[in-house]
Amino acid sequence: MDKVNKTATLSVNGKTIELPVLQPTVGPDAIDIRKLYSEAGVFTYDPGFTSTASCDSAITYIDGDKGELLYRGYPIEQLAEKSHYLEVCYLLLYGELPTPEQLADFEERITRHTMVHEQMHYFFRGFRRDSHPMATMVGVVGAMSAFYHDSTDISDPWQREVAAIRMIAKVPTIAAMAYKYSIGQPFIYPRNDLDYAANFLHMCFAVPCEPYIVRPELARAMDRIMMLHADHEQNASTSTVRLAGSSGANPFACIAAGIACLWGPAHGGANQACLEMLREIGSVDRIPEYIKRAKDKNDPFRLMGFGHRVYKNFDPRAKVMKESADEVLDLLGIKNNPTLQVAKELERIALQDDYFIEKKLYPNVDFYSGIILEAMGFPTSMFTPIFAVSRTVGWISQWKEMLTDPTQKIGRPRQLYIGHTRRDYVDLEQRGS
Ligand code: SDX
Repeated sequence: MDKVNKTATLSVNGKTIELPVLQPTVGPDAIDIRKLYSEAGVFTYDPGFTSTASCDSAITYIDGDKGELLYRGYPIEQLAEKSHYLEVCYLLLYGELPTPEQLADFEERITRHTMVHEQMHYFFRGFRRDSHPMATMVGVVGAMSAFYHDSTDISDPWQREVAAIRMIAKVPTIAAMAYKYSIGQPFIYPRNDLDYAANFLHMCFAVPCEPYIVRPELARAMDRIMMLHADHEQNASTSTVRLAGSSGANPFACIAAGIACLWGPAHGGANQACLEMLREIGSVDRIPEYIKRAKDKNDPFRLMGFGHRVYKNFDPRAKVMKESADEVLDLLGIKNNPTLQVAKELERIALQDDYFIEKKLYPNVDFYSGIILEAMGFPTSMFTPIFAVSRTVGWISQWKEMLTDPTQKIGRPRQLYIGHTRRDYVDLEQRGS
């Protein structure tokens, strides 16, 4: 599409300026306000960044009205059906689907990096056994910069590449170790003969006393969950990783920052909060009480797993996840799962309710994922760590893209100051009089 020169005219405080309008390959145009303050002496104001593009990116595109999610242009539904997680990792990192040789080489490189430095085992010992696995992951992933000094120089493309491979390969191992530590079981080493998702399930559920066979259907379901969570434009945790990376912080510290941000219940922590909410509701006859609370402005309760800043139609990931929930529960012979029954009835009722229709609130990626993970045997405390494992490739892809962006500079937002104007110090003896 030929780009036409477009500008926006802004008149403010008696000044009129022309601002360039940037055009995307798809999606809304963006007004380039970089010279706004120097030319007009004003800031823009957008807490929560509802109308602000923080960067340009070629990795993931979301159309919230169409319910569309594209990884490097490929629809998530097609990837979830035809691809697998490591192929999606390659696509997000390098921009194209790999050839058979490229895929084999990438998978081999990831496999060869799945073990962590043996000394890291002792790092876990400092945590209480009942630590939330996300707390452990924030600490241990951040500590990777203390073990892998040869991949912390962000100015070296080779070290950036090694850090990316190490992160994608080792974060599942660390997440599985965090889980094992929390239940007092010994760490299970990765196995090079298993694929990525099967290896993760093995590290979580195997014990040294007997063989553990990963069911291929469950490995496939886990792999699909990882694909669905791999990247999602400039969400809160990705923006955290970019902001941390903009100061030149090492990649392990940046990903640890992303994990910390993801933990919040408004973001990745919603999958744990959603399952706990569904359990608290307990039965379909209690749904109206919770719908009422979700609509009550004076009640802080929100339907966890519902709503999204961008999707104002359905979340395409939730649709795939809902189908997968049926498959996994059926595979495991779990009939009439009360949590799934409550979830489906809650979705049905909410989507007919004017409040949710008017505010365009639909189930998001976190609404059904917990049901699958619980059925697989994971405690709710492992739901967000699994989201973090899956999103690591998105974070590191966006981090790499930011570092190679020639316009990149340290992120430093301004503010609308509403505090005191200048005033003089008051000596202690004069105060309170
Ligand atoms: C993820 O950004 C991403 O891409 C995130 C993510 C990713 O892949 O990285 O998709 C992953 O974080 C998914 C979202 C998981 N969070 C939840 O499920 C928590 C519950 N949802 C909400 O807290 C909320 O919907 C957010 C945080 C997801 C979105 O919040 P916004 O965009 O700031 O919307 P808002 O809070 O301004 O809500 C708009 C209106 C409000 O009512 P009014 O003030 O206009 O009267 O909708 C209401 C809200 O009160 N509302 C809800 C609701 N979500 C929004 N009311 C009841 N239940 C809800 N879940």
